[in-house]
Parts: sequence; C-alpha cells; structure tokens
Amino acid sequence: MSATDIHDPNRRDFLYVATGMAAVVGAGAVAWPFIDQMRPDASTLALASVEVDVASLTPGMSLVVKWRGKPVVVRNRTEQEMKDGEAVNLADLKDPIARNANLPSDAPATDANRTTPGKEAWMVMVQVCTHLGCIPLGQEGEFGGWFCPCHGSVYDTAGRIRKGPAPENMAVPVFQFISDTKIRIG
Ligand code: FES
Repeated sequence: MSATDIHDPNRRDFLYVATGMAAVVGAGAVAWPFIDQMRPDASTLALASVEVDVASLTPGMSLVVKWRGKPVVVRNRTEQEMKDGEAVNLADLKDPIARNANLPSDAPATDANRTTPGKEAWMVMVQVCTHLGCIPLGQEGEFGGWFCPCHGSVYDTAGRIRKGPAPENMAVPVFQFISDTKIRIG
C-alpha cells in the first residue's frame, strides 16, 4: 500500500465534511429570511388598531390590511353575495356561532351577525383559515366566498365554514365604521 492510498480516504472524508458544512450554512442562510418575514415586526405588534379608508371599494372589491400581524380582509359584497349569505339555512352550518368579536360569544352565525348593523354589505374578517392557519383565496370555491387550498376548506360569502376540515367560521375582529368611508379595526 503506498502513502497516497493511505491518505486518499482521509482527504475524501475531509472534503465530504467540508461540503456538508457548506450545505448546513447554506440552508441556514436561506431559511432565515423566511423566519424573519413570518415574525411580525415591533411596529406591527404595536398597532392595536388600524384605520382603513374604504372609499374606493365599490361592490365586489376587497382590500387586505395587516392588523396585529394578521391579514384582515375588508370586502364590499355584491348584492348577490349578500343574498346568498342570507339564504343559508342556519341548520346547514358546520359552525353555528357568529365568531364576531363585536357580539356576544354565543350569537348565531346569521349573515347579519357576521357584519355590522346598517353596513351589512361589508365583511371585515381575519382572513386566516381556522384549520391550520393558511390564508384562503377570496371569491373561490363552490359557495363563492373563500377557499383554502391547503386542505380544501370552503367558506361562504359571509366567511362561514361550509366544507372541509376547518372547524370554525373565520373570525370577525372588533371593528367599527368611524365615518361612512372609514373603518377602525381593533
Ligand atoms: S389550513 Fe385551510 S384547510 Fe387546512
């Protein structure tokens, strides 16, 4: 056996270890920005409430704002979306509770109870699936509301869970109209 034969395996081991370390460092460098993005920054956490100007939202339009690190959708529903929401038989709902922070915790999940009096066209809702926290897509799915592609939860036009694994209606946060065109969330 020559000296080269003896040293070769060691050299190969060293290269293998060095490559492995580079891979670990590389994975760390890639993972960090994602983790950093998921953590709400201090300024967001500090925002106990946000005011949203909704003057530009005609029926059928939505916008999403970040509130306490979560996406909150504000949607000016169409006549048809409201009609569809009102037509639902409460006995058909998977979650019969309104989940509206502005109402008693046992308020039933009528279409009106998912909104606010006098402004029933407007949905203001934390757009986070109640299954495992994905962000559902708006105006998708068989009920014309929201659809979560992660595991197939389907919500209606009032954000009530109708099919799939999610257990609850999406949450309606504390909010109020502070003028005809401005909403305060929180
Ligand atoms: S997280 Fe939405 S269906 Fe699983």
